[in-house]
Amino acid sequence: MTVRVPAKVNVQLAVGAARPDGFHDLANVFLAVSLYDEVTATPADALTVTCEGPDAEQVPLDRTNLAARAAEILGKRTGTVPAVHLHIAKNIPVAGGMAGGSADGAAALLACDALWGLDTPRAELLDICAELGSDVPFSLVGGAALGTGRGELLTPVEAGTFHWVFAVADGGLSTPAVFREFDRLAAGRRIPEPEASPALLAALAAGDADALAGALANDLQPAALSLRPQLADTLARGAAGGALAGLVSGSGPTTAFLVRDAEAAAEVAAALEASGTCRATRVASGPAPGATVLATA
Ligand code: C5P
Repeated sequence: MTVRVPAKVNVQLAVGAARPDGFHDLANVFLAVSLYDEVTATPADALTVTCEGPDAEQVPLDRTNLAARAAEILGKRTGTVPAVHLHIAKNIPVAGGMAGGSADGAAALLACDALWGLDTPRAELLDICAELGSDVPFSLVGGAALGTGRGELLTPVEAGTFHWVFAVADGGLSTPAVFREFDRLAAGRRIPEPEASPALLAALAAGDADALAGALANDLQPAALSLRPQLADTLARGAAGGALAGLVSGSGPTTAFLVRDAEAAAEVAAALEASGTCRATRVASGPAPGATVLATA
């Protein structure tokens, strides 16, 4: 059973103060983009995970992998022994701020549900996704959505098509470390309640790239730049290369550049590659569909 699952970019990531449980309330406007991992589930003697792709060696293959945890949690909830081999064909940057690990969790959940013939109700799948991580429910749902709470409470939002270039950085950034840096930078300041920007939602719904370029916002960007100052060079090179706007994707270190169309995407990608300020580029568009069963193995 093979499931295809998209990466995400946050077109707005408004971050509130740290909560007593350590998480932060968010107004998180997610857009799924056409950059995909595929997870294939096949019956096996025991739960095992393998991974292929350009960054496969950076992916943990033990029980900390969200794909493995998804199989375990679904098995536990439904009384099914999670005897399954999960193979991840990885194309989403690892630890890049594009929800690659979350994507694999959502994909494995859907693949195991189909393989085991469980037909688990959507609401329960979403509940398991939220247990796996704040971004996992969105990986299941895809499209465009506003995430509130710690990002797991989703409301779909309307979105036209937008074109993007992603600059993949060397090495990952730890999401908890970026949130800790956000807290450090925010110390002593009053942090407003996070709210979705009406102008941003209107631009998204209208498919208006110029308006969206002016409204893109990521409250984690100063923290990511503080931990990885060289990302400022990547952002500058993307802007100089013709992007309408650029920002750090989620907790980074991938940077995302909004461009007018596929032609502009190729130009901006070439400029970024030539600049030597990133490891690789990827071109994609969104909204893309959420986790989808492709084929029965
Ligand atoms: O939910 P998830 O496991 O993906 O979160 C990883 C880490 O990111 C959390 O342990 C927390 O440090 C941070 N986080 C946060 N507020 C959120 C989401 C994540 O502080 N809304």
